[in-house]
Amino acid sequence: MIFPHSLARPMSLHGRDVVSIRDLSREEIAGLLDSAKRMIPVAEGRRASPLLAGKIVAMAFVEPSTRTRLSFESAVQRLGGSCLTIADAGATSLRKGESLYDTIRMLSSYADAIVLRHPNEGAARLAARASDRPVINAGDGAGQHPTQTLLDLMTIRERFGTLAGLKVVLLGDLKYGRTVHSLAYALAEFGSEITLSSPESLRLPEEHRDDLRRQGAKVHDEPNLERAIRDADVLYVTRIQKERFPDESEYREVAGTYRVDARVLKEAKPQLIVMHPLPRVGEIAAEVDATPHAAYFRQAFLAVPVRMALLSAILDRSGRRP
Ligand code: CP
Repeated sequence: MIFPHSLARPMSLHGRDVVSIRDLSREEIAGLLDSAKRMIPVAEGRRASPLLAGKIVAMAFVEPSTRTRLSFESAVQRLGGSCLTIADAGATSLRKGESLYDTIRMLSSYADAIVLRHPNEGAARLAARASDRPVINAGDGAGQHPTQTLLDLMTIRERFGTLAGLKVVLLGDLKYGRTVHSLAYALAEFGSEITLSSPESLRLPEEHRDDLRRQGAKVHDEPNLERAIRDADVLYVTRIQKERFPDESEYREVAGTYRVDARVLKEAKPQLIVMHPLPRVGEIAAEVDATPHAAYFRQAFLAVPVRMALLSAILDRSGRRP
């Protein structure tokens, strides 16, 4: 069954780059989440939609990924489009020393939009300057991961019906974790209360704290996990970003310092959801998967309708910049 265009046609973000979550207004984020909800049957393969028929989206993944790349590819293909994929930068001319700027400039003549993941903060902004097609940041170093934030917000909204007034704990590597850098800003915009829980050396950097203060966010620190989750609605767990540490001995000092398991969750409200952008490497015990708290696999699925909604909104006409 073809998904009727009147139902599926999302709001327009025609030709826009999405480098930071700040590139989207609150209204635009809410509109995208509404569109994504309508696209769930397409993401599940129960309905067809041709919204991206004839469109080519380049996936330029210069850093490893499972969920982000494959959910973007699934989103494009479920909507009738096709992908050009760099999954191994070592097999491209970047290996020969070609600049990111030249690579992206060339890709923008092969595709209608470019999805970029890169280990360097700021790479997506540079790519947006190089490209005359829209660029979506799929994670730039310790910078931003805006599409992860969209699916994180959708997971919370699906469970609670709102984002306002919820108590959200951000746990773990708040220094290098790009997902929390994007998410904290968005949660503050939507009126959630934020508790920051991390080892001392992985505290949220001052620049992000300044942003939250400017937004008037309700935010406080609680390094003790049991105390942090006592009246929380959402526990957002992150992996320690080993690959971002300049010195591995610093990583070893904090590795394994927090873990969410059944014992920890005894302190939580029954409706608490545990989220994680994944991959997890020991921060959430497998025993949590079977509890009603576990939301991380639903979260990973929602990546597909969210990325469908975003790509459809950006490529709704020619995909060229206005
Ligand atoms: N959540 C996330 O970005 O996962 P991947 O690194 O597997 O893409």
